[in-house]
Amino acid sequence: MRILIAGCGDVGTRLGLQLITEGHQVWGLRRFPEKLPAGLRGLAADLTDPASLTGLPKDLDQVVYIAAADRSTEEAYQRAYIDGLRNVLAAAESKRLIFVSSTSVYGQDDGGWVDEESATEPASFRGRLILGAERLLDAADRQTIVVRFAGIYGPGRTRLIESVRSGEAVCWDDPPLYTNRIHVDDCAGMLHHLGQLLKPQSMYLGVDHEPAADSEVKRWLARRLGVPEPPSAADRPSSRRRMSANKRCSNRRLLATGYTFRYPDFRAGYGAVLSES
Ligand SMILES: NC(=O)c1ccc[n+]([C@@H]2O[C@H](COP(=O)([O-])OP(=O)(O)OC[C@H]3O[C@@H](n4cnc5c(N)ncnc54)[C@H](OP(=O)(O)O)[C@@H]3O)[C@@H](O)[C@H]2O)c1
Repeated sequence: MRILIAGCGDVGTRLGLQLITEGHQVWGLRRFPEKLPAGLRGLAADLTDPASLTGLPKDLDQVVYIAAADRSTEEAYQRAYIDGLRNVLAAAESKRLIFVSSTSVYGQDDGGWVDEESATEPASFRGRLILGAERLLDAADRQTIVVRFAGIYGPGRTRLIESVRSGEAVCWDDPPLYTNRIHVDDCAGMLHHLGQLLKPQSMYLGVDHEPAADSEVKRWLARRLGVPEPPSAADRPSSRRRMSANKRCSNRRLLATGYTFRYPDFRAGYGAVLSES
């Protein structure tokens, strides 16, 4: 297959390297393609600048859109998700397009279960703008798949580990605060898997098997690191709770496609990250 990865960063590079070992032709588009490893065909372009997208490869089987905003501002989100996706839809013809989205499109905060059919009422501008990008696909001239990832972790993405190690973390115990996550290798693995399906559905949640209470994850990490368990947030009244969290995302639809997780839960995934570091 001929595959363009638009926004070829951490996830895109892992996906691209997997695809080229199978003989696919893969182009990685980003502003600084010199950062791509050998084997991926780098394309220097700015997704927000239509003029820079005029020479894209023809006869593509698949475009995978994985650009991320480089700042946490409304303007950066508008550019990375809405403007960039609109420009790629106009500039790159393909049979299929996979758009990487986020579980921030959900506003649920009551600890209940969420799946692909759940209401999307985002609580933040991030979720609102990413949802706006998803809606661009309603009018797309090709088959589209949206994959909504939860928090991505893996090698080099160790903010939670460091906050536990440094003693900065607190545990949100009462009521439990449910969090969802996905190892970066499974992000690439499931994009690869969904890209090969003959009859995919139009949307999947990209999360592991186990939404887990924030305090359970942090206490498990503390035990593995051999540091004191983080205190309860009740003992640190100044701590701010993340408002976009407290939902349990289901991966049932993804599992029904036959995808096998490399890291099915946080213990497997963080265990691997800790053994590698
Ligand atoms: N982080 C999370 O926990 C999380 C959670 C849910 C969903 N997601 C989504 O998952 C995806 C994962 O991304 P990732 O971890 O692979 O991010 P990443 O490593 O930051 O890669 C994103 C790539 O996009 C490229 N890019 C950004 N703006 C661009 C532009 N204007 N033109 C061309 N390329 C551009 C960047 O390359 P250059 O700088 O070279 O242009 C970068 O390599 C993103 O779509 C993100 O929204 C992430």
